[in-house]
Amino acid sequence: MTQIDKTKPVLVTGANGYVASWLVKKLVDEGITVHAAVRSPENNKKVGHLKAAAALAKGEIKFFKADLLEAGSYKEAMQGCELVYHTASPFVTDVKDPQRDLVDPAEKGTANVLETAKEISSVKRVVVTSSCAAIYTDAIDSINAPGGRLTEQVWNTTASLNYQPYSYSKTLAEQKAWELVNSQSQWDLVTINPCLVLGPALNPQHSTSESVNILKMLGGGDMKMGAPKIGMGVVDVRDVAEAHYRAGFMPNADGRYITAAHETDFLEMGTTLLGTYGDKFPLPRKALPKWLLMIIGPMTNKLFTRKFIRNNVNIPWRADNSKIKNDLQMNFLPLKKTMEDAFQVLIDNGALKAK
Ligand SMILES: NC(=O)c1ccc[n+]([C@@H]2O[C@H](COP(=O)([O-])OP(=O)(O)OC[C@H]3O[C@@H](n4cnc5c(N)ncnc54)[C@H](OP(=O)(O)O)[C@@H]3O)[C@@H](O)[C@H]2O)c1
Repeated sequence: MTQIDKTKPVLVTGANGYVASWLVKKLVDEGITVHAAVRSPENNKKVGHLKAAAALAKGEIKFFKADLLEAGSYKEAMQGCELVYHTASPFVTDVKDPQRDLVDPAEKGTANVLETAKEISSVKRVVVTSSCAAIYTDAIDSINAPGGRLTEQVWNTTASLNYQPYSYSKTLAEQKAWELVNSQSQWDLVTINPCLVLGPALNPQHSTSESVNILKMLGGGDMKMGAPKIGMGVVDVRDVAEAHYRAGFMPNADGRYITAAHETDFLEMGTTLLGTYGDKFPLPRKALPKWLLMIIGPMTNKLFTRKFIRNNVNIPWRADNSKIKNDLQMNFLPLKKTMEDAFQVLIDNGALKAK
């Protein structure tokens, strides 16, 4: 049972990211001082939205320059913190060198941050932003899991450097975190494992998260002929921030937490938007047949290999979210609200234009 003192600063790595920005906003709204570790503290396009959030809040933000691949880089930012949120990790799918661009920053970065936590005597709890990607690769893995549903007991055994390397990077990073917590007794570890995070971006013009790219793809016409019914989980970014907050401050938080609100698919994500935006945006309205995807998929997108299509299209995704509901008393926003709020922010900021 770890008790965190809210008058002490809290470190957030990758503080400017899509997910972390909402966490930082929550922390400063609660009156907490945030040590925001980012790669480019001088770049207002990347951190201006955080300064704006802090200006309206009781808490404050202090920025620190840090990089996952530089040993000891987070040391200064961690001084005096009892609670460390490690969110920084590349969430990109189109990379040239998966080892260099995904695995190294994820795995070595986690080691770097957690090794530093062993040296800073104030640290009592580390919350790592892992992912459902550390639990499964393809929708079929969820059906093949014991009981036909993913749980916190399941680990991803199907991703590799050559197949879904982002999932592989998140698996290795979380495994590294559990290895390191066992090498000391000063702090405990909680992991938040979100499925696909959607919802409004606090910095929509400059977000590079794959979450924002997916929304732009849905509304930008890439799927106007139809969307693949790829089974997946979705959760709102505001709920993910709340889950992090509770995982940090609730003394009983323990272990991994699947952070998933809805068992859905790509097509349903698009069609929830039709009522409000269907007249003005080229949204998907029907499912693309699997046989057609098997033929055209590999030509249109290098991620759409036949293996990926076989293991995901028309396959439901199932996960048990009861642990986070019970332990952290989490409730989740409805899918329609998540999708509409996300879409509206992109429209308001000119990132999506009506036809
Ligand atoms: N979005 C989702 O659907 C989802 C789902 C499950 C888990 N997650 C996890 O949530 C976390 C945040 O993802 P996100 O969606 O918010 O993506 P994001 O907006 O791209 O945020 C990623 C953050 O990591 C930082 N970063 C990347 N490489 C770095 C390096 N070498 N050194 C220091 N910082 C580095 C980025 O900094 P720069 O801005 O300087 O590049 C950025 O602050 C990640 O751990 C991701 O795996 C996301």
